[in-house]
Parts: sequence; C-alpha cells; structure tokens
Amino acid sequence: MSITAAEAYAPATVANLGVGFDILGLAVAEPGDTIRAEWSDLPGVTVADITGDGGKLPRESAKNTACVAAQSALKLAGETRGVRLTIHKGLPAASGLGSSAASAVAGAVAVNALMGEPLSRGDLLPPALDGEAVASGYHPDNVAPCLFGGITLAVGLTADRVYNLPVPANMHLALVTPHVEVATALARAALPAEISLKQMVSQTAGVAELIHAIYTGDLEHLAAAMERDRVIEPAREHLMPFMRNVRATAKRAGALGMVISGAGPTLMALCDSQSTAEAVASAMKAVYEMEGIGATAQASMVAPDGARVVRIERG
Ligand code: HSE
Repeated sequence: MSITAAEAYAPATVANLGVGFDILGLAVAEPGDTIRAEWSDLPGVTVADITGDGGKLPRESAKNTACVAAQSALKLAGETRGVRLTIHKGLPAASGLGSSAASAVAGAVAVNALMGEPLSRGDLLPPALDGEAVASGYHPDNVAPCLFGGITLAVGLTADRVYNLPVPANMHLALVTPHVEVATALARAALPAEISLKQMVSQTAGVAELIHAIYTGDLEHLAAAMERDRVIEPAREHLMPFMRNVRATAKRAGALGMVISGAGPTLMALCDSQSTAEAVASAMKAVYEMEGIGATAQASMVAPDGARVVRIERG
C-alpha cells in the first residue's frame, strides 16, 4: 500500500533571545501548526483549506509559506506529482512565535512524509527557509529550532551550519502574547541599516556571554546577556505596547530577565522554576489586561524535539 496522506505538527519558536538577532532561537512544545498533505491531480502545491487564521493567510500558493516550502521539498526530492495542503493554524500570525516558520516547516515535513521520507531532517532546512522567506526573508532563527528542537545557533542556511546548544537545567519561560499584531516586515524595517563600532563590540560581547552562559548553565548570566541587546530592542520598543512596564512587573514577580520574542509582540521572560514562570506569566498578562489589551500567557520550557509527523495514511 502506498502513502496517500501525511500530517505534520510544527511548534512555536522564540527567535533572537535578545542579542542573538537572526541566529539564535529555541523551540517550545505548544502551540503549533498542523498540516496535512495529500497527493493531488492538480500540478504543483495547492491549498485545500486553511483553518484558524481568521481568513488572513494567502491561499495563493506562491505567497503561502507552507506551499512554497512543500514545493521546494518536492523539487529537491525530484518529485513531480501535485500535492494539496490542509493547513490548521494553531499559531497566531504576526505574534513573534514563529508562525510563518511553523507553517513552512510543517509543510516541508508533511510532504517529505507523504513521499516516504526521501529527505533527511537536515535536508528540509533549505526548503523550509524558502517558505519562511516568502514572509520575512532568509533567516533561520525560527525555522532551525522548529525543525530540530532545543536551542539552536544558526550561522548559515544549511543544516551543517546549525548547532544544537545544551539546554540549561531549570530553564523555564514565561511567554505572553498581547492581542495586537506586529508584522515581521514592519519590525524589520524599523531596524537601523548600520551600527557603530561601539555597538558592534557590545552586541558581540552579549552574544558571546549568552553562549557561554548556555554552556555553563548559568541562568542569571543568561538572562543578563540576553538583555544586553542595544541594537534591536531600542529600535522596536515603540511597537511593543507597555513593554517597560511588563518587564518591571515580570522582574518583580521573580523573572531573571525579559526580551522580545522574535519580532514581537510576544515577550519572553526567563525564570528558574515552573512556579515562578507561572506567576510571571500571569503578572505580565495582568499588565495588558489593566490597559484594556487582551493577552495569552503560558509558562513553558524548551522543547527538546522540533516538528514531528503525526499521521500517515495508506491506501
Ligand atoms: N530574527 C527575526 C526578527 C525573527 O527578529 O526579525 C522574526 O521572524
């Protein structure tokens, strides 16, 4: 019996970790996107349906991150049959949780499963990046942890240029997403085209300190290093409602540090226990609610695994 349909789940990710703009990221277990791929009589990759996006995502294949990633994976494997995708969005778009990357990764993983896994997990990185690029250009800091899980350092666009870093013990996260949208393209357009030598040295030191803290498992230094970003956060702060207040509140509730998750508006606070992460998450959420902005909050941890195949159908 041959495979007739395959479904893949790809999780949310937190990119940048403050100073590590476009190179560092981590996976969290939930929420995520689920994509079902089936063979189709139509050529190329088409959208059968999208749910959970409020009608916002493009149905046109060339503009849809999942379709572009799936098409790129099919091409890489030399597959010429058509495929249709049913996309279930569990992740809100433009939220800073790697929504476009999750769709791209789920699309690539689902079609690879449909083909009987001719491509390795590492082979799927460039196709997934092709999909992500439709939304916000080539940067692997969401796609890499989404595919591989854990904390990733991506210094290039192929799997041999991605390093899985150790996950410190007791690394807990509080994630809060205010119900406002920040388009990644807009948040990227806000960034400076050039920085001074002084800023470069400070930013480089921050990344080096962050990597050292990850390897030594020192959460306090990790938090301090994340917050050393003097380039990205100042340029984006005006897009994140009440960020200073949320950071101060998170720290009062026990967080070690807080940064923008990806391009925002989700904020991620680093904590050293589950109970602190829960208290911090609800304290951060309360700040938005007091200001009349709805928010979603969760206490989470780094997920060791990335995307997974959740269903295979044969006929
Ligand atoms: N590194 C990216 C950014 C992540 O901050 O723009 C968002 O996709």
